[in-house]
Amino acid sequence: MKPVKVGVCGLGTVGSGTVNVLIRNAEEIARRTGRPIIVEQIGARRDNPDCDTTGIDVTRDIFDVANNPEIDVVVELIGGYDVARELVMTAIENGKHVVTANKALIAVHGNDIFEAAKAKGVIVAFESAVAGGIPVIKGIREGLAANKINWLAGIINGTGNYIMTQMRDYGRDFADVLAEAQALGYAEADPTFDVEGIDAAHKLTILGSVAFGIPLQFDKAYTEGISRITPLDIEQADELGYVIKHLGIARRSKEGVELRVHPTLIPKDRLIANVHGVLNAVMVQGDAVGPTMYYGPGAGAEPTASSVIADIVDVARGMNTDYSDRVPPLGFTQDNLDQNAP
Ligand code: HSE
Repeated sequence: MKPVKVGVCGLGTVGSGTVNVLIRNAEEIARRTGRPIIVEQIGARRDNPDCDTTGIDVTRDIFDVANNPEIDVVVELIGGYDVARELVMTAIENGKHVVTANKALIAVHGNDIFEAAKAKGVIVAFESAVAGGIPVIKGIREGLAANKINWLAGIINGTGNYIMTQMRDYGRDFADVLAEAQALGYAEADPTFDVEGIDAAHKLTILGSVAFGIPLQFDKAYTEGISRITPLDIEQADELGYVIKHLGIARRSKEGVELRVHPTLIPKDRLIANVHGVLNAVMVQGDAVGPTMYYGPGAGAEPTASSVIADIVDVARGMNTDYSDRVPPLGFTQDNLDQNAP
């Protein structure tokens, strides 16, 4: 069957993981998709020793990928706001589907991007933007499609959870653990996004939009990080029977949907209090299903690649179908923008 041709932009941690898994598991992925998925081109400023690109066309200009008439799906893994936005908009303008792991991009520019995608009848998929390898977007949109969501709460920054876990269990220093998380490829290019709660707020903005059908409103999320948590805070919480976890919380209120990220005291015996290291967990309460929880690796090359490829498969399965009723995928209209403002 005709292969789906993918162009991968960015060959950092997630880009190299994505190319590696697409090649390593090509047979399995083709079986599940019903057609082969091939990496037609890679756009990256430099090579990555963790990724063997033999036989793949590599360009230094990512816009070559967005403008390549052979490519069906552009995978945006460069991160950041402005160039990523231009790249994605160019790809959409050229009628290509887009898969992105860029939570900052979706949280801040997603409303415009989905409008553009709707006009062109293409899909923009972003499972990997939230909670790394955990299929929580698909869990909410597909698995919980029957439910009115009442609230969701989760640990959605792996770096922050890794730092807090190492501080608590091994008495390690905040800065040392952050440096280690950077070396392991967990942290953002600017790690203040991790420790000041900005990355979690980006992800919460997306989850809130998917769960409650509201527009993406990153600027309305209350954002507080973990940078002021001291070893003494952790010790005293422990003595009182609590664990400090950095949570993103979204819930319905009379005024709309409340979005907030901040450190939270959780009783030690709760399931989410026992989610440690780079692992993430998201609890979602639906009116029909009741409480549910999604758990797994929140960052890292191949866990994130797992979600990126799930989106590529999703797009590939649906290619040649009419997406016009599915885009924007968040299910909102301009009409409910004001009504649902948090
Ligand atoms: N820096 C992010 C985290 C990467 O630590 O969760 C995954 O989104």
